[in-house]
Amino acid sequence: MIIDTHAHYDDEQFDADREELLGSMEEGGIGLIVNAGSTVTSWDKIVELTERYPFIYGAVGVHPDEVGELDEEKFLRMADLLDRDKIVAVGEIGLDYYWDKEKHELQKEWFVRQLGLAREKEMPVIIHSREAAADTFEIMKQHAAGMKAVIHCYSYSPEMAREYVKMGYYIGIGGVVTFKNAKKLKQVVQEIPLESIVLETDCPYLAPVPYRGERNCSLYLPYVAEQIAELKGTTVEEVIQQTEKNSRELYGL
Ligand code: NI
Repeated sequence: MIIDTHAHYDDEQFDADREELLGSMEEGGIGLIVNAGSTVTSWDKIVELTERYPFIYGAVGVHPDEVGELDEEKFLRMADLLDRDKIVAVGEIGLDYYWDKEKHELQKEWFVRQLGLAREKEMPVIIHSREAAADTFEIMKQHAAGMKAVIHCYSYSPEMAREYVKMGYYIGIGGVVTFKNAKKLKQVVQEIPLESIVLETDCPYLAPVPYRGERNCSLYLPYVAEQIAELKGTTVEEVIQQTEKNSRELYGL
C-alpha cells in the first residue's frame, strides 16, 4: 500500500469536499496517511481526523513560521496530545529562513524544545527546513542524534542528504521530484538508497506533474512513486513496497 507520510487534511482548502475525498483513498490505493501539525489550531482538527478515519494518524507540533504563538501552556497541551494512541510523531518542526516570519533565535529555541519533547516521549520527528541547511544540520546533530526523523520536502544538496542518511534519518520526497527543473532533487533520489526514502504529499501544496499548481492530495502519490522508480531504475511496485516499509519503521505503524 501507499503511505502518505505528510499531509495537511486539516487545511481549509479541503473544507468543501474533505469527506468525499478521504472516502476515496482506499480505492485509490492509499493505505495510511499521517497528517502533520502546523499551527496550534491545527491540533484539534488533526485529533478529530484520527478519531474519524481509521487510516489517518497524526503528528502534533508547531511549524517554524508559527512558533510566535507558542507558550508554556500550549507546550504542555502539546505534550498531553502526544500521549494519544494515534498521534505518532512530533511535527512539523524546524527552521524556515525563506519566509522568515519569526526571528531565527526564536525558531531555534522552539525547534530545540520540541526535539527535546520528542526525545522525552521517544517519538519520531518531522523536520521542516527551508533555506536553513547549516543551522538545521547543526541542531539535528546536537539534539536529535539517535532519534528517528524524516527531513520532509527535502530541498538541499545530495551531499547533505547522504549525511542525514548516515544519521539514520529518512528523506521525504513529494511532488517536486516530478518537476522538470528539479535537477538537484532528482540527483538526491538517485544517490540515496531507496531504504531511506518515504513518500509524502504536503497536500494541499506541491502537486506533482500533471497536476502541478492545482490542489494536491494523496491520490496523486503514484506519480511521485513512478518518478522515483524511473530515477532508480526499478519498478513502481518496488518503490511502493519499500517506502511502505520505511514509513512503518519511521512512525512505528
Ligand atoms: Ni507540511
